[in-house]
Amino acid sequence: MEHVATPSWAMLAYLVSGILFILALRGLSSPATSRTGNRFGMTGMTIAVVTTLVTHVPLKSFQDFGGHGFIARLNTVTLLEILAAIAIGGAIGWVTARRIKMTDMPQLVAAFHSLVGLAAVLVGWAAYLNPQAFGIAGPDGAIEAQSRIEMGLGIAIGAITFSGSVIAFLKLAGKMSGAPIMLPGRHVINLGTLVAILGLVAYFTQDQGLWVIATVTALSFAIGFLLIIPIGGADMPVVVSMLNSYSGWAAAAMGFTLHNTAMIITGALVGSSGAILSYIMCKAMNRGFLSVIAGGFGADAGGGPGGGAAREQRPWKRGSAEDAAFIMKEAENVIIIPGYGMAVAQAQHVLREMADQLKKHGVTVKYAIHPVAGRMPGHMNVLLAEAQVPYDEVFELEDINGEFAQCDVAFIIGANDVVNPAAKTDKSSPIYGMPVFDVEKAKTIFFVKRSMGGVGYAGVDNDVFYMDQTMMLLADAKKMVEDINKALAD
Ligand code: TAP
Repeated sequence: MEHVATPSWAMLAYLVSGILFILALRGLSSPATSRTGNRFGMTGMTIAVVTTLVTHVPLKSFQDFGGHGFIARLNTVTLLEILAAIAIGGAIGWVTARRIKMTDMPQLVAAFHSLVGLAAVLVGWAAYLNPQAFGIAGPDGAIEAQSRIEMGLGIAIGAITFSGSVIAFLKLAGKMSGAPIMLPGRHVINLGTLVAILGLVAYFTQDQGLWVIATVTALSFAIGFLLIIPIGGADMPVVVSMLNSYSGWAAAAMGFTLHNTAMIITGALVGSSGAILSYIMCKAMNRGFLSVIAGGFGADAGGGPGGGAAREQRPWKRGSAEDAAFIMKEAENVIIIPGYGMAVAQAQHVLREMADQLKKHGVTVKYAIHPVAGRMPGHMNVLLAEAQVPYDEVFELEDINGEFAQCDVAFIIGANDVVNPAAKTDKSSPIYGMPVFDVEKAKTIFFVKRSMGGVGYAGVDNDVFYMDQTMMLLADAKKMVEDINKALAD
C-alpha cells in the first residue's frame, strides 16, 4: 500500500505551525515576551495536532482496513481512542504541572523527556511491525532502505533518551544517589556499544530481521543507562538539557518515518535549541561540551550535592535585619544576588517589596542573575518575573559583574556557589573555572543563609563568609527579608 501524499493545505498548516514554533522560541528568549512565546507555541501545537488528526485518522483507517461495512465505526473508534488518549495524557500533565513545586521542576522535565523517548521507540516499532500502514513498504512488501535508517536511528536515540532520562529523574528526585557511579572500563564499554548500535543500524538496511532491530533497541536502552549513571549531580542540569536535545532528534527521525513535516520541524527545533542551551550551560559551569555529551567524562571534575570539603573554623561576623536595613537605606546602590535558597524559601515577593522600599529611599537596586543560579535554567528569572520585578532591573552575569567594584552593598540571598571566589583561585575546587560574581569587590556584603554549616550545591566552603566586609544574616531567606522590610518601614 502506498504512502498517501499529504494534501497541500496540510503542508501549509504544518509550515504555519513550524513558523509559530520558531516565534515561540524567540519569545521565550526574554522574560518580557515569554508569555506571548508560550501562546505561539500552544497555537502551533494545536494546529499541528488538528491537521494530523484530520489528514491521517480517516485516511489511514480507511486504507488499512479496506471495505466499507465497518469503516464508519472504525474511523469513529480510532478517533475516539486518540481523543481519549489526549484527554488522559493532558489531564495527567495538567495536574502534575499544577502540583509540582518550582524546585522539583528539573526532575519533572527529565520525566517528560523519558516519555518523548519512549514514544519514539514505540512509533518506530509500530512502523516496523506494520510498514504498509505507515506507507514505508516497497513494492515487494519490504521496508524501504531509507526508512530503515530513519527507523533504526529514531528507535536508538529514543531508547537512549528514555533510559538516560529515567536515571536523570531518579538522581534529581533523590531516589538514587546523585554521586557518580563509575564502572571499570566504562569508556571502552560505552564506545563499543555505540559502535555496535551504529553498525547494526547500517546492517538493518540489508536485513530487516527482527533480531537486528530488537538488538538495536536493547543496546540503546543499555547505553542510555550507562552514559548517565557515571555523571555526578553537578553536571545533571547539562545532562537534562542534552537529553532534551536527544528527544528532539528522536522526534525528528520519527517525523521522517511518519512523513510528518511538523514533527521533523519541531524535532529539529527542540534538538538544536537543546544543544545550544547545553552549550551555554557548559560554558557557564566551565564544563567541556563534548565530554558531557559523551557522558561520564564530566564525572571526574564534578562535585555533587552533599560532597563536602573539610570546613575550617574561621572568624565571621553575624549581622541582624536591623543592621542590613540601616546600611542598605544609606547606600547609593545595592546589587541583589538570588540563588537556590531564595527559591526554597519562596522569598521573591518579599524581596521585591524590600527593593521597592529601598528605591523609595533613593537607592538604585539591581538583580544579578547567574546562568546556573538555582536548579534549572532561568530559575531565578521565572521567580523574579512571578514577583513582578521589573525586567530592566535584572542583569546577567557578564553585564553586571563589572559593577561590583562601585557597589555599596552586595545582598546575597540563598546563593552560594555562584559567588564563591574559589572558582577563580582554587584549582582543586570542584567549581574551579566556573565564572562567578565578583561580590568580594563590594564595600559591604550581606549573606543570607540559614546556618554556617549549610553548603551550596557543590558542597564546598566559601571564603566570602569570612571576609572583613561580610555580615552573615543567618535565617530562612523569607523570614530575614520580612524582618528587614519591617526595619526599613520603621
Ligand atoms: P547553592 O550554591 O546551591 O547554594 C544555596 C544556598 O542557599 C546555600 O548556601 C544554602 O545554605 C542556602 N539556603 C537553602 N535554603 C535556604 C533558605 N530556606 N533560606 C535561606 N537560605 C537557604 O545555590 P546557587 O548559588 O544558586 O548555585 C547553584 C548551584 O546549583 C551551582 O553549583 C549550579 O551548578 C548547581 N545547579 C544548577 C542548576 C541550574 S541549571 N541552575 C541545576 C542543578 C544544579 P543553608 O543550607 O545554610 O541555608
